[in-house]
Amino acid sequence: MKNKIVPTGKERSLKGDTYIVSKTDTKGKITYANRIFMEISGYRESDLLGIQHNILRHPDMPRGAFKLMWDTISTGKEFFAYVINLCKNGDHYWVLANITPDYDEAGNITGYLSVRRLPKPEVVKALIPVYAQMVAEEKRVGAKGAIDASQAMLMNMVKEAGHDSYETFILSL
Ligand SMILES: Cc1cc2nc3c(=O)[nH]c(=O)nc-3n(C[C@H](O)[C@H](O)[C@H](O)COP(=O)(O)O)c2cc1C
Repeated sequence: MKNKIVPTGKERSLKGDTYIVSKTDTKGKITYANRIFMEISGYRESDLLGIQHNILRHPDMPRGAFKLMWDTISTGKEFFAYVINLCKNGDHYWVLANITPDYDEAGNITGYLSVRRLPKPEVVKALIPVYAQMVAEEKRVGAKGAIDASQAMLMNMVKEAGHDSYETFILSL
């Protein structure tokens, strides 16, 4: 389901000692959402279960960031990311997400778990222009090649800051 929600520009904030938790299948369809998730996003459980996680997609999030996430978690590794998410009414909230694969007994990935907590405000401040440049680059390049272009831009910024990966970069901020 694609998101047609218009952002209000109003920010919501996660309480310091709470976690937004969701689980998905291997394609990113929501299979579980905790109470805090529903409270902050404004959705009921019945709005979420079986729905693609991009229901929360905010237009300020670069596609390149999600590509990096999928490339990482689908190979069985965990991923950390700063994410801006859209609520049902168009408000938004920033989180630091940790996404990990779930496995069956045979070692196959059966889905993913995301645990999100309150991000550091100074990191959000530092990342807003980074994500904005990536989104602008994606628009400039157009659908074909957009993700490669914005990822290359991200990696340049990460390297300029003296890091090898987006994750070590954000976790160092
Ligand atoms: C466990 C898990 C949690 C996710 N959480 C979010 C999220 O909070 N916000 C979001 O926009 N996308 C989230 N995604 C990624 C979406 O599935 C999707 O890739 C992304 O929103 C980009 O959607 P699009 O390619 O349709 O633009 C999550 C994916 C997984 C596997």
